[in-house]
Amino acid sequence: MCGIVGYVGGKKAQDVLVGGLRRLEYRGYDSAGIATLDDDDKAHLTRSVGKIAELSKALESEPQTGHLGIGHTRWATHGGVTETNAHPHHVGNIYMVHNGIIENYKEIKAELKDYDFASDTDTEVLAALIDSNYKDGVSLKDAVAKSLKRIRGTYGIAVFSPKEPGTIIVARLGSPLIIGLGKDETLIASDASALLGYTREAIYLNDGELAVCTDKGAEVFTLGLKHLDSKPETIEGDLAQIQKGGYDHFLLKEIMEQATTLHNTLSGRIDPKAGKMHLGGPNLTEKEMRDIHHVVIVGCGTAYYAGLLASYYMEQLVPDLTTEVVIASEYRYRSLHLPKDSVALIVSQSGETADTLACLREIKKRGVKTLGIVNVVGSTIAREVDGGTYVHAGPEISVASTKAFTAQVVAMLMFAGMIAEYHGGDPKLIAEFTRELEILPKEIEKVLNDNHDTMKSLAKKYSKFDHALYLGRDTAFPIALEGALKLKEISYIHAEGYASGELKHGPIALVDDRFFEVFTILDNWLFDKSCGGLHEVRARGGKTIVLTNSKADIEADDIIRIESPIKLLTPILLNTLQQLFAYYVAVNRGNDVDQPRNLAKSVTVE
Ligand code: G6P
Repeated sequence: MCGIVGYVGGKKAQDVLVGGLRRLEYRGYDSAGIATLDDDDKAHLTRSVGKIAELSKALESEPQTGHLGIGHTRWATHGGVTETNAHPHHVGNIYMVHNGIIENYKEIKAELKDYDFASDTDTEVLAALIDSNYKDGVSLKDAVAKSLKRIRGTYGIAVFSPKEPGTIIVARLGSPLIIGLGKDETLIASDASALLGYTREAIYLNDGELAVCTDKGAEVFTLGLKHLDSKPETIEGDLAQIQKGGYDHFLLKEIMEQATTLHNTLSGRIDPKAGKMHLGGPNLTEKEMRDIHHVVIVGCGTAYYAGLLASYYMEQLVPDLTTEVVIASEYRYRSLHLPKDSVALIVSQSGETADTLACLREIKKRGVKTLGIVNVVGSTIAREVDGGTYVHAGPEISVASTKAFTAQVVAMLMFAGMIAEYHGGDPKLIAEFTRELEILPKEIEKVLNDNHDTMKSLAKKYSKFDHALYLGRDTAFPIALEGALKLKEISYIHAEGYASGELKHGPIALVDDRFFEVFTILDNWLFDKSCGGLHEVRARGGKTIVLTNSKADIEADDIIRIESPIKLLTPILLNTLQQLFAYYVAVNRGNDVDQPRNLAKSVTVE
């Protein structure tokens, strides 16, 4: 959710911190702040409500000159969006930024009678607790470790004190923290993208670890202060990937680059000549693949819908397989009974989503093999799963997920294609899917380019509506859900996705002139049935848009027809058009497309 940065080294800390925060702004953007220590060991704190641009303005009148500091961009959990609630928090000798939730903060606050709390945050309570333990010759490291042992909840923190200049203490439990190791400088970030351009060498802190960072590097400890020998790893990616590349918004860039990113997802994993798919990452023996009879797919938001679409494909491909697609925030608290012949696919773009991570841990406890379908390399989920595959969609900056969805569906499809071989799956069908996967990137590019202007004008026509229903059946159903999610996230139009077959069970009652209805109708054996729902809506005066690959006559207010040799994967193609539609509706409504209100990219708190 929130973004954390830190710096100690020879450069002006303010510049590194503000630059880093800009890159992390997509993680949370209610308010922001930095605190630095100047060369006379005096601390300076600047915070502001709103985006990083507001913080930069505030810093223009009071520039900070020091070479050590911490910064934060916030997505509010405790307390409203105010300057006092913004981070860093300052209590006594402690300056601290925090990502996560301290569950027992009220209890601790009641005990800390000597402190007057300025904010409503749990973070300030933790800062006070550290300060209360930071006395009588106790080092900052020891005070932090002692305080964290008292905490219930999750945290990624960075702390400094004017009493120990040159040192930043960081720690994590459930919220990512990465330490970038440069020459005579050390950087801290909650996301590797803030480190790009500074260093490629980094230590990914594990849960329950604490590190002492100086300009000479970092020493890692357990909370019991046992020294750990943490090996630096290499950060992937480059600066170009986290820039807009000439587009007005990251979202448009991410929609339009899907041909390229999907090519990366597929690279080396399909063999169209042999009609086969193969993923190396799951690392399953032949016996293990044969033994899988149940796949549970876990995710949140778009990742959940990707799982839903993939489950249809999985069941088509693997004859004796049952699938169950679950919303992580629900599943983590259910009485999970997983058969021993299960495999769990843990789907997450960021690899940090708190609920998804919690499910992963619950499932592991039950002895079931977990495989990650993850985009961010080195993320917590990627590190904790038994195996899995990176979807290689590249950094996704815009809050609404687009290219990651496409990559996730395809990665899970390849997983299905691979195990189908061991379950008597129809070789012709596996080969057909493989052939379609091979041409999918090019077809996505074509469909997006051919229909770009049409989607733009369609968006103009519908951007004043208040409500939308998205409808589809079979593999078009998950696409209806995802289309509605995309529209509501960025345009703030109330949108719901439904299985077309459910129309008569409720949603058709909604049809009136405030609504428009988007039908995804596939040219397959359910074509007539899908058109049935469309007719019923039109008969009641509904305004209808149809997305289809059928050449047949269809009556609707607007029809977007694509022509493509792709058949089975048509929902993926049509979904890219829904993404463009949502994008242009949001632009027409004057919204902040990349950072929609109230949302955050990576939901690291429950
Ligand atoms: C947030 C994001 C969504 C994303 C979901 C799951 O809600 O705004 O775009 O689909 O989290 O995130 P994950 O990183 O686990 O895929």
